[in-house]
Amino acid sequence: MAEKQPIDVVALFPQVRDIADAKLRAAVIATWEELWAMSPWTEIREVPTSTEIPYPTVPHNQAVLAMAIAVADAFETFHGVKVDRDRLIAAAVLQDASKVVEFAPGADGKIAPTTLGRHYPHAFWAAHIALRHGIPDDIAHILLTHTPQAAKFPDSLEGKILYHVDQIDVIGIHKDRWRKELFITK
Ligand SMILES: [Fe+2]
Repeated sequence: MAEKQPIDVVALFPQVRDIADAKLRAAVIATWEELWAMSPWTEIREVPTSTEIPYPTVPHNQAVLAMAIAVADAFETFHGVKVDRDRLIAAAVLQDASKVVEFAPGADGKIAPTTLGRHYPHAFWAAHIALRHGIPDDIAHILLTHTPQAAKFPDSLEGKILYHVDQIDVIGIHKDRWRKELFITK
């Protein structure tokens, strides 16, 4: 079996440096490192986006992060709408981090869910480790609600930005899964 490669969170996601709160920045890095230490994978760049999407998760995660920041820039430039950059960057970097413990390469070369991946919803484990490292509840909430399978939508602007750019990126790397339904609300 190949030797496990260390993970360099700042090299993968250089925007981590832009997290102004030093405690939050350190906790984001520590959360990724702890998940990676638990992971059955040996090379981060071999981890796919999901059991259905073979495209690697690293460029997906990097693109989601870059798109989220671009949306925040446009909001601020054109509308003066303030986006919390620390919350946005921390959540974008962590939202898919638990994939490294949710599925593993199987003996037949197929990707299979791990026990954690079967027992918990996507992103639960990243939220759990993040909270243990002192990451605030509002960021854990974004991690838990970023997936369409979650019971709720994210309640913050930063969470909503991430939710949408994540799904837009899936169109680019996989296929268009969007479907229109008409709801009439008052
Ligand atoms: Fe995700």
